[in-house]
Amino acid sequence: MNYPKKVRIVEVGPRDGLQNEKQPIDTATKIQLIEKLASAGISYLEAGAFVNPKWVPQMAGSDEVFIGVKRASHVTYAALVPNLKGFERAVAVNATEVAVFCAASEAFTQKNTNCSIDESLARANSVIDAAKAANIPVRGYISCVVGCPYEGDIAPEKVTYIAKRLLAMGCYEISLGDTIGVGTPAAVATLLDDLLTVIPAAQLAVHFHDTYGQALANILVALQAGIAVVDSSVAGLGGCPYAKGASGNVATEDLVYMLDGMAIETGVDLAALIDTGNWISGKLGRTSSSSVALASIS
Ligand code: HMG
Ligand code: MG
Repeated sequence: MNYPKKVRIVEVGPRDGLQNEKQPIDTATKIQLIEKLASAGISYLEAGAFVNPKWVPQMAGSDEVFIGVKRASHVTYAALVPNLKGFERAVAVNATEVAVFCAASEAFTQKNTNCSIDESLARANSVIDAAKAANIPVRGYISCVVGCPYEGDIAPEKVTYIAKRLLAMGCYEISLGDTIGVGTPAAVATLLDDLLTVIPAAQLAVHFHDTYGQALANILVALQAGIAVVDSSVAGLGGCPYAKGASGNVATEDLVYMLDGMAIETGVDLAALIDTGNWISGKLGRTSSSSVALASIS
């Protein structure tokens, strides 16, 4: 079996991980989390979101986070933005990259962004145009790529349609979000078969929430298809506030353990990552959701 020699890990813990936390988390803790992740060798961090703070209060302080973080030269500090207003806020605090987001489900798009799929694509287009003018790379997310909390199973063609549109607008990469973690390797393989007929693996990333414990198996299927960018969240933090019951992303520790075991390079120091995951879990008053972190407690 052919696997990529290297995988780029997109650490989404500070954004996807923390956005769903109900308890207040101070800015200093968020900044420390980002700095610890960078020290552990993470090279791409989604550090915050410039969404409507009334919708996602935990991300309200993303401005202070971006301003306060001591930047490491090897790290990309990305921001999630829903519209031009969010893009302007991200640029004002020197986000290195931005990510726009759409979904392959009309119902989820309404709940998450208060608009239709077509309107969300138009918003993404305006962000991408502004980003081109400012020379800022744009990543695109598609949520609900295999299942939606409101519409159930999602047809692969819907995902491929949106992916093609976002790439044509100028996104350099599409991250495929299994927002509620319902996908199995069979469903992911069917989705990738459809996507890969028109989109090269080099323009795709995967973003699996681990609600049903399928994330690592699904990542393996993606690696076998030649995808070499994987999103994950330290300690398995997170979930989407508009996908009830959705748990965190695959834990970065578990991903790195698997990739280390397959001799696939990530540049990440597993021991330092486990320490970081245990530290943030302690700050949140719980144990880590990473199996590898739990197994490593001596
Ligand atoms: P809206 O309420 O329809 O927006 O929200 P609006 O344009 O009508 O504006 C209403 C008010 O919001 C105005 O203020 C705007 O200025 C303000 P007012 O006049 O009432 O004082 N506003 C903003 N303020 C700050 N920053 C902004 C911004 N935009 C408008 N950027 C909107 C529409 C899209 C903004 C809203 O629905 C929103 O913020 N949604 C984001 C929801 C979200 O963050 N969800 C989680 C992230 S997505 C995710 O987790 C999935 C992912 O991980 C992949 C996966 O797992 O599948 C990426
Ligand atoms: Mg997510």
